[in-house]
Amino acid sequence: KKVLFSGMQATGNLTLGNYLGALKNWVKLSDEYECFYSVVDMHSITVRQDPATLRKRARALLTLYIAAGLDPKKNCIYYQSHVSGHAELAWILNCFTYMGELNRMTQFKDKSAKHADNINAGLFTYPVLMAADILLYQADVVPVGIDQMQHLELTRDIATRFNNIYGDVFTIPEAYVGKVGAKIMSLQDPSKKMSKSDENPNGSIYLMDDPDTIIRKCKRAVTDSEANIAYREEQPGLKNLIDIYCACEGKTPDEAVKEFEGRGYGELKMAVGESVVSVLKPLQDEVSRLEKDKAYLDSIIKENAEKASYYANKTLRKVQRKVGFPDRI
Ligand code: TYM
Repeated sequence: KKVLFSGMQATGNLTLGNYLGALKNWVKLSDEYECFYSVVDMHSITVRQDPATLRKRARALLTLYIAAGLDPKKNCIYYQSHVSGHAELAWILNCFTYMGELNRMTQFKDKSAKHADNINAGLFTYPVLMAADILLYQADVVPVGIDQMQHLELTRDIATRFNNIYGDVFTIPEAYVGKVGAKIMSLQDPSKKMSKSDENPNGSIYLMDDPDTIIRKCKRAVTDSEANIAYREEQPGLKNLIDIYCACEGKTPDEAVKEFEGRGYGELKMAVGESVVSVLKPLQDEVSRLEKDKAYLDSIIKENAEKASYYANKTLRKVQRKVGFPDRI
């Protein structure tokens, strides 16, 4: 079986963008691949976190992976910080990554503008840790939203550079980006992606929002004054609502436009809201059911960390040997 790796940060409240752009595809692909799904808590500390909150969110995220339909007996669902190989490989890869490459990362530029008081070295080398995540498991495919594509390109460059020096050590990973939902935009400003860190809570639908809140946010979504249902760049708010609808319903934009032809924006917004509720409500119910089963979750966490470490160490030993570290006796 081919290998799949992906991860999400346990920072902030997860949004519908995280679900439609990533998690939903993970579930779809999980039968086809040997899968590793990580809660990337080490990435989270590149911005300041409250320890108790981070711990709680990390666990909630791991629970969410399972609630979304990833069977933790078949898929390796684990905390990044429980597998020391991530940090060890990241160090080695740091030595094969150029400052200039990292300087070009748009996410670094955005985040350092936003956290000007804490532009730490971890924030700068964040993409190298991400490359280590992926390469450690020799992943063939990495399902992500469009905003992570630049990091994935860098991962491929680092892996290719390493292979050119030392022979075929790493599998060169491919991105998997879904047809719809790969870039969900803010409901209040459709030129910006829907983001966990948006100051305006009406711009994002959070995965744990209750049905009334979801409907209200959809009703208030910013559209335009053309009063004509169409799927085009010139009507970005509308396009985003249609994307959300299609990703939730498994429809194509053409189908959706036909369905709403001649109807008002109000009706479309209502339908979008209802379709989001029908996707998120069962997910929320499953999260609360799972949360109660502490012993089960704990056993999953332990088992999967061991499984991930086994695979991680296989790659790590090989890499350490290639770069010239002394053998272990
Ligand atoms: P993160 O935690 O910001 O986002 C998790 C996933 O959600 C996708 N996503 C979106 N998709 C569509 N529309 C949106 N508005 C939207 N917002 C977020 C992201 O593309 C991502 O797939 N660096 C990564 C985490 C990471 C990772 C990895 C991912 C660490 N190591 C290795 C893949 C492989 C991040 O911060 O994602």
